[in-house]
Amino acid sequence: MSRVIFHRPEDQPALASELAPGSAVRDARGRPLRDLRISVTDRCNFRCTYCMPREVFGSDHVFLPHSALLTFEEITRVADVALSQGVRKIRLTGGEPLLRKQIEVLVAMLARLRTPDGQPPDLTLTTNGTLLARKADALAQAGLTRVTVSLDALDDALFERMSDSGVPVATILSGIDAAARAGLGPVKINMVVRRGMNDGQILPMARHFRHSGHILRFIEYMDVGSTNGWRMDEVVTGAEIVRRIGDEFSLKPVQAQYRGEVAARWAYDDGAGEIGLITSVSQPFCGDCTRLRLSPEGRLFTCLFAEQGHDVRALLRSGAGDQALRDRLAGVWQGRGDRYSELRGQAHRDHKIEMSYIGG
Ligand code: GTP
Ligand code: 5AD
Ligand code: SF4
Ligand code: SF4
Repeated sequence: MSRVIFHRPEDQPALASELAPGSAVRDARGRPLRDLRISVTDRCNFRCTYCMPREVFGSDHVFLPHSALLTFEEITRVADVALSQGVRKIRLTGGEPLLRKQIEVLVAMLARLRTPDGQPPDLTLTTNGTLLARKADALAQAGLTRVTVSLDALDDALFERMSDSGVPVATILSGIDAAARAGLGPVKINMVVRRGMNDGQILPMARHFRHSGHILRFIEYMDVGSTNGWRMDEVVTGAEIVRRIGDEFSLKPVQAQYRGEVAARWAYDDGAGEIGLITSVSQPFCGDCTRLRLSPEGRLFTCLFAEQGHDVRALLRSGAGDQALRDRLAGVWQGRGDRYSELRGQAHRDHKIEMSYIGG
Protein backbone atom coordinates (compact mmCIF):
# COMPACT_ATOMS: atom_id res chain seq x y z
CA MET A 1 0.00 0.00 0.00
CA SER A 2 1.32 3.44 -0.80
CA ARG A 3 1.41 6.10 1.88
CA VAL A 4 -0.82 9.11 1.40
CA ILE A 5 0.53 12.64 1.66
CA PHE A 6 -0.51 14.35 4.91
CA HIS A 7 -1.08 17.97 5.75
CA ARG A 8 0.73 17.57 9.06
CA PRO A 9 3.74 15.27 8.75
CA GLU A 10 3.86 14.59 12.50
CA ASP A 11 0.45 12.91 12.13
CA GLN A 12 1.69 10.32 9.66
CA PRO A 13 -0.13 7.22 10.89
CA ALA A 14 1.06 3.65 10.83
CA LEU A 15 0.20 1.33 7.99
CA ALA A 16 -2.89 -0.78 8.70
CA SER A 17 -0.68 -3.78 9.34
CA GLU A 18 1.38 -1.79 11.90
CA LEU A 19 -1.59 -0.65 14.02
CA ALA A 20 -1.35 -1.68 17.66
CA PRO A 21 -4.41 -3.66 18.79
CA GLY A 22 -7.11 -1.32 20.07
CA SER A 23 -5.68 1.84 18.48
CA ALA A 24 -7.41 3.64 15.66
CA VAL A 25 -6.24 4.63 12.21
CA ARG A 26 -6.15 8.45 11.89
CA ASP A 27 -7.15 10.67 9.00
CA ALA A 28 -5.20 13.56 7.46
CA ARG A 29 -6.50 15.86 10.22
CA GLY A 30 -5.56 13.48 13.01
CA ARG A 31 -9.13 12.29 13.62
CA PRO A 32 -9.44 8.64 14.66
CA LEU A 33 -11.83 6.24 12.95
CA ARG A 34 -14.48 5.37 15.58
CA ASP A 35 -17.91 5.04 13.95
CA LEU A 36 -19.17 3.06 11.00
CA ARG A 37 -22.57 4.01 9.60
CA ILE A 38 -23.89 1.30 7.31
CA SER A 39 -26.73 2.12 4.91
CA VAL A 40 -28.45 -1.17 4.10
CA THR A 41 -30.95 0.06 1.51
CA ASP A 42 -31.74 3.17 -0.55
CA ARG A 43 -35.50 2.48 -0.28
CA CYS A 44 -37.92 4.11 2.11
CA ASN A 45 -41.68 3.93 2.70
CA PHE A 46 -41.72 7.69 3.48
CA ARG A 47 -41.17 10.56 1.09
CA CYS A 48 -40.05 13.25 3.51
CA THR A 49 -40.05 16.49 1.56
CA TYR A 50 -36.54 17.40 2.73
CA CYS A 51 -35.05 14.01 1.92
CA MET A 52 -36.92 12.11 -0.83
CA PRO A 53 -39.28 14.60 -2.47
CA ARG A 54 -41.87 12.69 -4.50
CA GLU A 55 -41.20 14.80 -7.61
CA VAL A 56 -37.71 13.23 -7.68
CA PHE A 57 -38.35 9.88 -5.97
CA GLY A 58 -41.66 9.08 -7.71
CA SER A 59 -43.04 5.76 -8.96
CA ASP A 60 -40.60 5.81 -11.89
CA HIS A 61 -37.52 6.26 -9.68
CA VAL A 62 -35.04 3.43 -10.14
CA PHE A 63 -33.68 2.05 -6.87
CA LEU A 64 -30.67 -0.21 -6.58
CA PRO A 65 -31.35 -3.80 -7.68
CA HIS A 66 -30.89 -6.43 -4.98
CA SER A 67 -27.82 -7.87 -6.70
CA ALA A 68 -26.04 -4.52 -6.32
CA LEU A 69 -26.49 -4.47 -2.55
CA LEU A 70 -23.76 -5.80 -0.32
CA THR A 71 -24.82 -9.14 1.15
CA PHE A 72 -24.99 -9.55 4.93
CA GLU A 73 -21.74 -11.53 4.78
CA GLU A 74 -20.01 -8.73 2.85
CA ILE A 75 -21.29 -6.05 5.25
CA THR A 76 -20.14 -8.11 8.23
CA ARG A 77 -16.68 -8.50 6.73
CA VAL A 78 -16.30 -4.76 6.19
CA ALA A 79 -17.53 -4.13 9.75
CA ASP A 80 -15.08 -6.67 11.16
CA VAL A 81 -12.20 -5.00 9.34
CA ALA A 82 -13.42 -1.56 10.49
CA LEU A 83 -13.40 -2.76 14.12
CA SER A 84 -9.75 -3.74 13.68
CA GLN A 85 -9.06 -0.17 12.52
CA GLY A 86 -10.61 1.61 15.52
CA VAL A 87 -14.40 1.50 15.05
CA ARG A 88 -16.37 1.13 18.31
CA LYS A 89 -19.88 2.03 17.20
CA ILE A 90 -21.87 0.65 14.28
CA ARG A 91 -25.11 2.28 13.17
CA LEU A 92 -27.45 0.79 10.60
CA THR A 93 -29.28 3.30 8.44
CA GLY A 94 -31.08 3.47 5.08
CA GLY A 95 -33.28 4.70 3.40
CA GLU A 96 -35.35 2.84 5.94
CA PRO A 97 -33.19 0.00 7.33
CA LEU A 98 -36.14 -2.06 8.59
CA LEU A 99 -37.26 -2.50 4.96
CA ARG A 100 -34.20 -4.68 4.30
CA LYS A 101 -35.46 -8.26 4.54
CA GLN A 102 -34.34 -10.17 7.63
CA ILE A 103 -32.40 -7.22 8.98
CA GLU A 104 -32.34 -8.96 12.37
CA VAL A 105 -30.12 -11.64 10.83
CA LEU A 106 -27.56 -8.95 9.93
CA VAL A 107 -27.88 -7.50 13.44
CA ALA A 108 -27.10 -10.92 14.92
CA MET A 109 -24.05 -11.31 12.66
CA LEU A 110 -22.73 -7.86 13.63
CA ALA A 111 -23.45 -8.43 17.31
CA ARG A 112 -21.08 -11.39 17.30
CA LEU A 113 -18.13 -9.22 16.18
CA ARG A 114 -15.54 -8.03 18.68
CA THR A 115 -13.05 -5.17 18.85
CA PRO A 116 -9.34 -6.12 19.10
CA ASP A 117 -9.62 -5.81 22.91
CA GLY A 118 -12.56 -8.21 22.99
CA GLN A 119 -15.45 -5.76 23.38
CA PRO A 120 -18.73 -5.97 21.43
CA PRO A 121 -19.46 -2.86 19.35
CA ASP A 122 -22.18 -0.42 20.32
CA LEU A 123 -24.75 -1.55 17.73
CA THR A 124 -27.53 0.88 16.91
CA LEU A 125 -30.03 1.73 14.18
CA THR A 126 -31.81 4.86 12.93
CA THR A 127 -35.37 4.21 11.70
CA ASN A 128 -38.52 6.11 10.77
CA GLY A 129 -40.32 3.84 13.23
CA THR A 130 -43.14 2.49 11.05
CA LEU A 131 -42.07 -1.15 11.39
CA LEU A 132 -40.58 -0.86 14.85
CA ALA A 133 -43.56 -2.10 16.87
CA ARG A 134 -43.41 -5.30 14.84
CA LYS A 135 -39.62 -5.70 14.87
CA ALA A 136 -38.36 -4.31 18.21
CA ASP A 137 -38.30 -7.64 20.09
CA ALA A 138 -36.52 -9.50 17.28
CA LEU A 139 -33.95 -6.71 16.96
CA ALA A 140 -33.25 -6.67 20.69
CA GLN A 141 -32.94 -10.46 20.79
CA ALA A 142 -30.52 -10.32 17.85
CA GLY A 143 -28.24 -8.04 19.89
CA LEU A 144 -29.13 -4.49 18.87
CA THR A 145 -28.19 -2.12 21.72
CA ARG A 146 -30.27 1.00 21.02
CA VAL A 147 -32.46 2.71 18.42
CA THR A 148 -32.99 6.26 17.20
CA VAL A 149 -36.39 7.11 15.73
CA SER A 150 -37.08 10.04 13.40
CA LEU A 151 -40.23 12.02 14.22
CA ASP A 152 -40.76 15.57 12.98
CA ALA A 153 -44.18 16.42 14.42
CA LEU A 154 -46.90 15.24 16.81
CA ASP A 155 -49.66 16.82 14.80
CA ASP A 156 -51.03 14.19 12.39
CA ALA A 157 -51.80 16.50 9.48
CA LEU A 158 -48.37 18.13 9.64
CA PHE A 159 -46.58 14.81 10.07
CA GLU A 160 -48.38 13.38 7.06
CA ARG A 161 -47.49 16.43 5.02
CA MET A 162 -43.81 16.28 5.99
CA SER A 163 -43.37 12.52 5.59
CA ASP A 164 -45.77 12.37 2.60
CA SER A 165 -46.71 8.92 3.81
CA GLY A 166 -50.26 8.63 5.21
CA VAL A 167 -48.81 7.02 8.34
CA PRO A 168 -50.34 8.34 11.59
CA VAL A 169 -48.14 9.64 14.40
CA ALA A 170 -49.61 6.96 16.72
CA THR A 171 -47.83 4.25 14.67
CA ILE A 172 -44.45 5.86 15.33
CA LEU A 173 -45.23 6.46 19.01
CA SER A 174 -46.15 2.81 19.48
CA GLY A 175 -42.90 1.84 17.72
CA ILE A 176 -40.99 4.01 20.20
CA ASP A 177 -42.82 2.40 23.15
CA ALA A 178 -42.14 -1.09 21.81
CA ALA A 179 -38.43 -0.28 21.44
CA ALA A 180 -38.22 0.99 25.02
CA ARG A 181 -40.07 -2.11 26.32
CA ALA A 182 -37.70 -4.36 24.35
CA GLY A 183 -34.72 -2.76 26.13
CA LEU A 184 -33.53 -0.66 23.18
CA GLY A 185 -33.41 2.52 25.26
CA PRO A 186 -32.77 5.20 25.98
CA VAL A 187 -34.58 5.76 22.68
CA LYS A 188 -33.43 8.89 20.89
CA ILE A 189 -35.99 10.83 18.84
CA ASN A 190 -34.63 12.88 15.92
CA MET A 191 -36.68 15.90 14.86
CA VAL A 192 -35.51 17.87 11.82
CA VAL A 193 -36.69 21.47 12.28
CA ARG A 194 -37.69 23.57 9.28
CA ARG A 195 -38.76 27.15 9.83
CA GLY A 196 -42.30 27.82 8.68
CA MET A 197 -42.97 24.07 8.44
CA ASN A 198 -42.69 22.37 11.83
CA ASP A 199 -40.96 24.86 14.14
CA GLY A 200 -44.34 25.30 15.85
CA GLN A 201 -43.90 21.69 17.02
CA ILE A 202 -40.71 22.35 19.01
CA LEU A 203 -42.56 23.02 22.26
CA PRO A 204 -45.28 20.33 21.86
CA MET A 205 -42.53 17.78 21.15
CA ALA A 206 -40.47 18.97 24.14
CA ARG A 207 -43.50 18.77 26.43
CA HIS A 208 -44.47 15.35 25.13
CA PHE A 209 -41.08 13.72 25.64
CA ARG A 210 -40.33 15.25 29.07
CA HIS A 211 -40.47 12.53 31.74
CA SER A 212 -40.61 9.83 29.02
CA GLY A 213 -37.06 8.53 29.48
CA HIS A 214 -36.51 9.15 25.74
CA ILE A 215 -34.05 11.78 24.49
CA LEU A 216 -35.48 14.26 22.00
CA ARG A 217 -32.88 15.71 19.61
CA PHE A 218 -33.47 18.69 17.38
CA ILE A 219 -31.56 18.64 14.08
CA GLU A 220 -30.83 21.80 12.14
CA TYR A 221 -32.13 21.37 8.61
CA MET A 222 -29.07 20.61 6.47
CA ASP A 223 -28.17 21.10 2.81
CA VAL A 224 -27.66 17.37 2.26
CA GLY A 225 -28.04 16.04 -1.27
CA SER A 226 -29.12 18.04 -4.29
CA THR A 227 -32.89 17.55 -4.39
CA ASN A 228 -34.44 19.30 -1.38
CA GLY A 229 -33.99 22.94 -2.46
CA TRP A 230 -32.46 23.84 0.95
CA ARG A 231 -32.43 27.49 1.96
CA MET A 232 -30.58 29.01 4.90
CA ASP A 233 -33.66 30.96 6.00
CA GLU A 234 -35.44 27.66 6.72
CA VAL A 235 -32.83 26.72 9.34
CA VAL A 236 -33.80 27.24 12.98
CA THR A 237 -30.53 27.31 14.92
CA GLY A 238 -29.90 25.18 17.99
CA ALA A 239 -29.43 28.38 20.01
CA GLU A 240 -32.93 29.57 19.05
CA ILE A 241 -34.41 26.18 19.92
CA VAL A 242 -32.78 26.21 23.38
CA ARG A 243 -34.07 29.76 23.88
CA ARG A 244 -37.61 28.81 22.91
CA ILE A 245 -37.70 25.74 25.17
CA GLY A 246 -35.84 27.62 27.91
CA ASP A 247 -38.63 30.22 28.01
CA GLU A 248 -40.97 27.52 29.29
CA PHE A 249 -38.64 25.09 31.11
CA SER A 250 -35.35 25.88 32.81
CA LEU A 251 -32.45 24.11 31.04
CA LYS A 252 -28.78 23.56 31.86
CA PRO A 253 -25.96 22.32 29.58
CA VAL A 254 -24.60 18.81 30.17
CA GLN A 255 -21.10 17.51 29.36
CA ALA A 256 -20.72 15.41 26.20
CA GLN A 257 -20.65 11.68 26.91
CA TYR A 258 -17.73 11.13 24.56
CA ARG A 259 -15.46 13.18 22.30
CA GLY A 260 -17.10 13.71 18.95
CA GLU A 261 -20.69 13.34 20.21
CA VAL A 262 -22.87 14.88 17.51
CA ALA A 263 -25.56 16.30 19.79
CA ALA A 264 -24.95 19.04 22.38
CA ARG A 265 -26.85 17.94 25.50
CA TRP A 266 -29.12 20.03 27.71
CA ALA A 267 -30.99 18.78 30.80
CA TYR A 268 -34.22 20.04 32.32
CA ASP A 269 -33.50 21.58 35.72
CA ASP A 270 -36.49 19.82 37.25
CA GLY A 271 -35.14 16.35 36.40
CA ALA A 272 -37.58 15.69 33.52
CA GLY A 273 -34.78 14.34 31.30
CA GLU A 274 -32.58 15.78 28.57
CA ILE A 275 -32.66 17.04 25.01
CA GLY A 276 -29.97 17.26 22.31
CA LEU A 277 -29.17 19.84 19.64
CA ILE A 278 -27.49 18.83 16.40
CA THR A 279 -26.10 22.08 15.04
CA SER A 280 -24.29 21.05 11.91
CA VAL A 281 -25.14 24.37 10.21
CA SER A 282 -24.67 26.98 12.97
CA GLN A 283 -21.89 25.21 14.92
CA PRO A 284 -20.20 22.55 12.80
CA PHE A 285 -18.50 19.66 14.55
CA CYS A 286 -16.14 18.46 11.80
CA GLY A 287 -13.08 18.82 14.04
CA ASP A 288 -14.17 15.76 16.01
CA CYS A 289 -15.84 13.83 13.18
CA THR A 290 -14.90 10.17 13.44
CA ARG A 291 -17.55 8.76 11.10
CA LEU A 292 -17.06 6.56 8.04
CA ARG A 293 -20.11 5.70 5.95
CA LEU A 294 -20.70 2.54 3.90
CA SER A 295 -23.30 2.80 1.12
CA PRO A 296 -25.76 -0.01 0.24
CA GLU A 297 -23.67 -1.03 -2.77
CA GLY A 298 -20.37 -0.97 -0.94
CA ARG A 299 -18.87 2.46 -1.38
CA LEU A 300 -17.11 4.18 1.51
CA PHE A 301 -17.86 7.86 2.04
CA THR A 302 -15.66 9.98 4.27
CA CYS A 303 -18.25 12.77 4.64
CA LEU A 304 -22.04 13.14 4.59
CA PHE A 305 -21.56 15.82 1.94
CA ALA A 306 -19.12 13.92 -0.25
CA GLU A 307 -19.66 13.72 -3.99
CA GLN A 308 -17.83 10.46 -4.47
CA GLY A 309 -17.25 7.23 -2.61
CA HIS A 310 -14.50 4.61 -2.62
CA ASP A 311 -15.66 1.23 -3.86
CA VAL A 312 -14.97 -1.85 -1.73
CA ARG A 313 -17.50 -4.19 -3.34
CA ALA A 314 -15.20 -5.08 -6.23
CA LEU A 315 -12.45 -5.91 -3.77
CA LEU A 316 -14.83 -8.04 -1.68
CA ARG A 317 -16.07 -9.87 -4.77
CA SER A 318 -12.57 -10.44 -6.15
CA GLY A 319 -11.70 -12.77 -3.29
CA ALA A 320 -9.36 -10.29 -1.59
CA GLY A 321 -7.97 -11.32 1.80
CA ASP A 322 -8.51 -9.47 5.07
CA GLN A 323 -5.17 -7.66 4.88
CA ALA A 324 -6.05 -6.16 1.48
CA LEU A 325 -9.37 -5.00 2.94
CA ARG A 326 -7.67 -3.53 6.00
CA ASP A 327 -5.23 -1.64 3.79
CA ARG A 328 -8.09 -0.35 1.64
CA LEU A 329 -10.07 0.97 4.62
CA ALA A 330 -6.98 2.48 6.24
CA GLY A 331 -5.95 4.10 2.95
CA VAL A 332 -9.39 5.69 2.49
CA TRP A 333 -9.41 6.99 6.07
CA GLN A 334 -5.82 8.23 6.00
CA GLY A 335 -6.53 10.20 2.83
CA ARG A 336 -9.53 11.95 4.43
CA GLY A 337 -9.46 15.72 4.85
CA ASP A 338 -13.22 16.44 4.80
CA ARG A 339 -14.78 19.24 6.84
CA TYR A 340 -17.69 20.30 4.66
CA SER A 341 -19.85 21.86 7.38
CA GLU A 342 -16.98 24.12 8.43
CA LEU A 343 -16.52 25.29 4.84
CA ARG A 344 -20.21 25.51 3.90
CA GLY A 345 -20.73 28.42 1.53
CA GLN A 346 -17.15 28.30 0.31
CA ALA A 347 -17.46 24.69 -0.80
CA HIS A 348 -19.89 24.59 -3.70
CA ARG A 349 -20.76 21.03 -4.73
CA ASP A 350 -22.98 20.01 -7.62
CA HIS A 351 -23.56 16.32 -6.94
CA LYS A 352 -23.71 15.65 -3.25
CA ILE A 353 -24.96 12.19 -2.34
CA GLU A 354 -28.55 11.94 -1.18
CA MET A 355 -29.46 11.35 2.47
CA SER A 356 -31.68 8.42 1.47
CA TYR A 357 -28.63 6.74 -0.11
CA ILE A 358 -26.17 7.32 2.71
CA GLY A 359 -28.47 7.44 5.73
CA GLY A 360 -27.56 10.65 7.53
P1 GTP B 1 -25.68 8.59 19.13
O1 GTP B 1 -25.26 9.87 19.78
O2 GTP B 1 -24.77 7.46 19.32
O3 GTP B 1 -27.06 8.17 19.49
O4 GTP B 1 -25.71 8.76 17.55
P2 GTP B 1 -25.64 9.91 16.51
O5 GTP B 1 -26.15 11.17 17.07
O6 GTP B 1 -24.32 9.87 15.88
O7 GTP B 1 -26.63 9.31 15.42
P3 GTP B 1 -27.82 9.76 14.58
O8 GTP B 1 -27.94 8.89 13.42
O9 GTP B 1 -29.06 9.82 15.40
O10 GTP B 1 -27.39 11.21 14.12
C1 GTP B 1 -28.27 12.22 14.22
C2 GTP B 1 -28.29 13.07 13.00
O11 GTP B 1 -27.19 13.96 13.06
C3 GTP B 1 -28.10 12.34 11.69
O12 GTP B 1 -29.26 11.81 11.25
C4 GTP B 1 -27.63 13.46 10.81
O13 GTP B 1 -28.74 14.20 10.43
C5 GTP B 1 -26.77 14.24 11.79
N1 GTP B 1 -25.38 13.76 11.66
C6 GTP B 1 -24.86 12.60 12.14
N2 GTP B 1 -23.58 12.51 11.83
C7 GTP B 1 -23.27 13.63 11.15
C8 GTP B 1 -22.10 14.11 10.53
O14 GTP B 1 -21.06 13.48 10.58
N3 GTP B 1 -22.17 15.29 9.90
C9 GTP B 1 -23.30 16.01 9.84
N4 GTP B 1 -23.24 17.16 9.20
N5 GTP B 1 -24.44 15.59 10.39
C10 GTP B 1 -24.43 14.42 11.03
N1 5AD C 1 -31.31 17.84 7.33
C1 5AD C 1 -31.24 17.34 8.59
N2 5AD C 1 -31.58 16.08 8.90
C2 5AD C 1 -32.01 15.30 7.92
N3 5AD C 1 -32.43 14.02 7.93
C3 5AD C 1 -32.75 13.67 6.65
N4 5AD C 1 -32.56 14.71 5.82
C4 5AD C 1 -32.11 15.74 6.58
C5 5AD C 1 -31.74 17.08 6.30
N5 5AD C 1 -31.80 17.59 5.08
C6 5AD C 1 -32.52 13.20 9.14
C7 5AD C 1 -33.74 12.35 9.22
C8 5AD C 1 -33.31 11.26 10.14
C9 5AD C 1 -31.85 11.13 9.89
C10 5AD C 1 -31.49 9.90 9.17
O1 5AD C 1 -31.48 12.28 9.15
O2 5AD C 1 -34.85 12.97 9.71
O3 5AD C 1 -33.55 11.56 11.49
FE1 SF4 D 1 -37.75 10.40 5.61
FE2 SF4 D 1 -35.69 8.99 6.66
FE3 SF4 D 1 -37.13 8.03 4.63
FE4 SF4 D 1 -35.52 10.10 4.23
S1 SF4 D 1 -34.88 8.02 4.75
S2 SF4 D 1 -37.60 9.84 3.44
S3 SF4 D 1 -35.72 11.18 6.20
S4 SF4 D 1 -37.88 8.46 6.70
FE1 SF4 E 1 -18.10 14.88 9.37
FE2 SF4 E 1 -18.50 15.82 6.91
FE3 SF4 E 1 -20.38 16.06 8.83
FE4 SF4 E 1 -18.13 17.51 8.93
S1 SF4 E 1 -19.72 17.65 7.37
S2 SF4 E 1 -19.13 16.42 10.63
S3 SF4 E 1 -16.64 16.03 8.11
S4 SF4 E 1 -19.62 14.15 7.93
